[in-house]
Amino acid sequence: MPTNHLGLCAIVTGGNSGIGKATTERLLAEGAQVMIVDLQADASFRDEGLHYLQADVAASGSAKMIVATALDLMGDVDFLINNAGMVGGTDVADMTTEIWHRIISVNLDAVFQLSQAAIPALKASSRGRIINIGSIMSDLAGPGMGAYTTSKHGIAGLTKTLALELGPFGITANYIQPGAIQTGITQPAIDNDPGFSHFWTEKSALGRLGQPKDIANAINFLLTEDAGFITAHGLVVDGGVMVTP
Ligand SMILES: NC(=O)c1ccc[n+]([C@@H]2O[C@H](COP(=O)([O-])OP(=O)(O)OC[C@H]3O[C@@H](n4cnc5c(N)ncnc54)[C@H](O)[C@@H]3O)[C@@H](O)[C@H]2O)c1
Repeated sequence: MPTNHLGLCAIVTGGNSGIGKATTERLLAEGAQVMIVDLQADASFRDEGLHYLQADVAASGSAKMIVATALDLMGDVDFLINNAGMVGGTDVADMTTEIWHRIISVNLDAVFQLSQAAIPALKASSRGRIINIGSIMSDLAGPGMGAYTTSKHGIAGLTKTLALELGPFGITANYIQPGAIQTGITQPAIDNDPGFSHFWTEKSALGRLGQPKDIANAINFLLTEDAGFITAHGLVVDGGVMVTP
C-alpha cells in the first residue's frame, strides 16, 4: 500500500460525492487524514482517518470555521482541495442576479475565502499544497454556461496568483481541468440525454467519459513530493477532449 501522505492532513470540500469522494478515498489510502466539508448531513462512507463537517462553503463565516474545525480535529492542514462546485444558470440574457451570485460565490468566492483562511496553516506545513478544481471551461466557453465559465476562468487566475504569493513559503498551488466526468453533476444528463454521453465520448481521444478516479489520481500526484516543482499549473485531465476541433 503506498503511503505518500502518511501523517499529513487534508481538507476536501465537496468530498461526499464524485471527484471529491474519490480524492478523499485516495488520500486516506495514502495515509492522510481527511476532513470532508459538504452540504449533506452525514458522510457517505466511513474510515478511521475520515472527519466530516456539514457546511456550506459559501456561507458567511464558513472559511474561518472550516479551518478552525480542521485544526481542532486533525492538528494540521497540509493540503487544501477546493473541489465543491455547482453548475446551473441560463443564457446571460435570462440569468437572474441571484443565480449568478450563487454560482460565483460557491465556485469562486469560497475558494478565495478558504484559501485565505488556510494560509497560516499551510505556511506551517512541510508540504503545503492547494489544489483548486477548475474545468476545461477554465479555457473554453459554452452558451448557457456564463456563470460557471466565469467562475472556472476565475479559478485559473486565482490559482496562478496564489502560486506566486505562496511560492516563497514552499507552498504550491495548482488547478485541475477535468473534462466530462461521470459524477453527481453530470449523472442527470447521462441518464436523460443520450446525446450528452455520445458527444463527450466521441470528442475524447480515449473514447470514454472520465471517472472520478481519473481526477483523483491527478490530484494525488500533485500532492506528492515528486510534484514539488509544479506550481501555477492548470492540469487538463479530459481524455483528449480539448484538442479535438
Ligand atoms: N463532473 C464533471 O464533468 C466536471 C467537469 C469539470 C469540473 N468539475 C468540477 O468538479 C467539482 C466536483 O464536482 P463533481 O463533478 O464531483 O460533482 P458532485 O455533484 O458529484 O460532487 C459535488 C459535491 O460538492 C458538494 N457541494 C456543492 N455545493 C456545496 C457547497 N456550497 N458547500 C459544500 N459542499 C457543496 C455536493 O454536496 C457534492 O457532494 C466541481 O467543482 C465541478 O465544477 C466537474
